[in-house]
Amino acid sequence: MKTILVTGGLGYIGSHTVVALQEEGYEVIIVDNLSNTTIEVLEGITEITKKPPVFERMDLRVKSDVVQFFKKYSVIDGIIHFAASKAVGESVENPLLYYENNIHSLVYLLQECRAHNISNLIFSSSCTVYGEPDSLPIDETAPIKEATSPYGNTKQINEEILRDTCRVTDINTIALRYFNPIGAHESARIGELPVGVPQNLVPFITQTAAGIREELSVFGDDYDTPDGSCIRDYIHVVDLAKAHVKAVERLINAENDTKFEVFNVGTGTGNSVLEVVNAFEEVTGKKLNYKITARRPGDVVAVYADTKKANEVLGWKAKKSLKESLASAWKWEQNIRKD
Ligand code: NAD
Ligand code: WQD
Repeated sequence: MKTILVTGGLGYIGSHTVVALQEEGYEVIIVDNLSNTTIEVLEGITEITKKPPVFERMDLRVKSDVVQFFKKYSVIDGIIHFAASKAVGESVENPLLYYENNIHSLVYLLQECRAHNISNLIFSSSCTVYGEPDSLPIDETAPIKEATSPYGNTKQINEEILRDTCRVTDINTIALRYFNPIGAHESARIGELPVGVPQNLVPFITQTAAGIREELSVFGDDYDTPDGSCIRDYIHVVDLAKAHVKAVERLINAENDTKFEVFNVGTGTGNSVLEVVNAFEEVTGKKLNYKITARRPGDVVAVYADTKKANEVLGWKAKKSLKESLASAWKWEQNIRKD
């Protein structure tokens, strides 16, 4: 029985990954400071898996607490590090918050990995490191472009920290570069919990359909794409969670000899904003109130993953369709508005 520490395990992607790990028989310890989630997520996870994971409320920015934590939990076979601040706009307004949280937390974790001989780490990276791609689909050999936000920069810096550290220590790392995670667990007991006005497309769509937002703004229809709106690779969060289990297996079975590996985690298919809107209307039967507005500064035109490496090396492939993802997002939205 292997034990995995999941930082940020009560967050959106973390909670789904905890479920996937428990379903595969892993023992899970979650740490989270609840800065972007609520403790009720722990109940949701437990309802689904019938097995409460161990939970410690802890802020990874507090080095002394991190040190104490690793003294208390001596047997950890691997770490999945989700905990981070992730709002692109907020990172532009408050870069130091992002550099402190996203960089310090990783450094403290790596120091404890060294102190306690923990050699397996999975890191949440992002397709944002690619910027505007030169060609599509984009594979892992594509150049890293200058970051367009402090948030994006923290992902690039963290990848560099990991690459440098893995080179000279026993730590092996897999960085998973997520594309656009959407949707929720089929039970609708866990899902995305956006704080305030959602910045991401799908939560904005579901909140508009639920009557919480008056109207969706489609940011631009004059891009050089077939229908003029931007293209992204929307991946179901449950598929994404399963990629973490595959990555854990790869590290624990010591299948990688490259020390630091990166994998794209997407579906391999690009969909435009208008295609997402239409698919949502089809799958829910609800008419969405939307208008075309100006482009959003900083948006890339189109990005979707070449997933060959993850398919072949990790033995992982996204299975769920865009419509399934949107249906699950809608079910979740309706469920959280019930009480
Ligand atoms: P999330 O905000 O839902 O989850 C992150 C969790 O970490 C939250 O529960 C938060 O309370 C916790 N946390 C933050 N700082 C912490 C700290 N200092 N100590 C302890 N806990 C802390 O975000 P998510 O969407 O689940 O993203 C998870 C990871 O994946 C992040 O690293 C994010 O940057 C990355 N990522 C997300 C997306 C996306 O679109 N959601 C895309 C690419 C990469
Ligand atoms: C998707 C598309 C918008 C909202 C962001 C981060 C990225 C990564 C994933 C973490 C774009 C359009 C959106 C709306 C719209 N996160 N849109 N109306 O921008 O691809 O990526 O999340 O690493 O770093 O930047 O995702 O969901 O914000 O936007 O038209 O109200 O939907 O213009 O084309 P994005 P998104």
